[in-house]
Amino acid sequence: MTAPGQPAPGQTAGRALNQPDRQRRGDGRIVVDNLTKVFGTQRAVDSLSFTVEPGSVTGFLGPNGAGKTTTLRMLLGLVRPTAGTATVNGVKYESLARPLQTVGAALEAASFHPAHTGLQHLKIYCAAAGLPARRAGEVLELVGLTQAAKKKTKGYSMGMRQRLGLAATLLGDPQVLILDEPANGLDPEGIRWLRGFFRHLAGEGRTILVSSHQLAEVQEVADRVVILNRGRLVRAGTLGELSAGTAVTVVRGPALAPLQQALAGAGFGGTTDQDGTLRVRTDRIAQVGHLAFAHGVELHELRLEEFDLEQLFFSLTEGEHQGAGLDQGVPGGQLPAGNQQGGAR
Ligand SMILES: Nc1ncnc2c1ncn2[C@@H]1O[C@H](COP(=O)(O)OP(=O)(O)O)[C@@H](O)[C@H]1O
Ligand SMILES: [Mg+2]
Repeated sequence: MTAPGQPAPGQTAGRALNQPDRQRRGDGRIVVDNLTKVFGTQRAVDSLSFTVEPGSVTGFLGPNGAGKTTTLRMLLGLVRPTAGTATVNGVKYESLARPLQTVGAALEAASFHPAHTGLQHLKIYCAAAGLPARRAGEVLELVGLTQAAKKKTKGYSMGMRQRLGLAATLLGDPQVLILDEPANGLDPEGIRWLRGFFRHLAGEGRTILVSSHQLAEVQEVADRVVILNRGRLVRAGTLGELSAGTAVTVVRGPALAPLQQALAGAGFGGTTDQDGTLRVRTDRIAQVGHLAFAHGVELHELRLEEFDLEQLFFSLTEGEHQGAGLDQGVPGGQLPAGNQQGGAR
């Protein structure tokens, strides 16, 4: 057995949090309650409330300038809220008894001393945090950087830098991970790896909160998403909850008026396009087909429109996210946060 709080020899962050661990550490929940931050006249974060549960990956989504980083900074005690609270395990970050063992955080692409190796970089962190030096090698292995452990960080690729930053967040074997745009600058292979890694960490019972301005980066890994726009909560829930009620049955035919009437009579809402195509707000395609049959209406097309999360995200954020998920992650292709604010309000 190990002393409380001491990682066992050879143990990595890749172990499941067992029951005593959980009890000792707290519930691992993140609670943001009515959080507000005003910079000058700008409400960067505006009455924001959401919770993040352990054992899952939560995507924190919003266009550049939405207030994601400011929210995460408040959660980490780096920015003082104008109003409201943000807690982990029920307490503010600065009141956590063992912050490094509770929360691992990476806010932006970390900078490393160019002449230090990845291993040296992490060993310095270990020394500063009172963690055993061997932990540096352990976390490097976790993120797949063992081969590059003794290479100077100036020779690291963007993907390697992201992995090294991630390794640093894992040093204290934290229960909660808060990562700001961790997929930025990663190639598709790097993003795939990151997704698997998040899954693995969540599977161990950890709480993972990952921000992104690119829906596609989190879509396949997030159990839940919290969508932010202009500092305000737009939507929060599972992807299934978000897609509920968004289904559309598309109907085309030479003379749809009788069907339209029948649909209205049956309580279906919908719209008619300029070319006469009916768009019925339902996923009950069989019922629509039956009404057409019952009213002798000739159909040339009857199909269920696939739920398009991309489209939903786009509409929820008023298209401010500049084609999220469409650009294939061109490094440096997006403006820094704040640069897109001109004329936005
Ligand atoms: N320290 C600060 N001083 C003034 N304005 C800031 C500061 N930090 C962020 N902002 C502004 O707050 C808004 C939200 O920024 P940010 O939280 O970085 O958004 P995101 O991370 O979603 O891109 C932006 O308009 C940004 O310019
Ligand atoms: Mg940001």
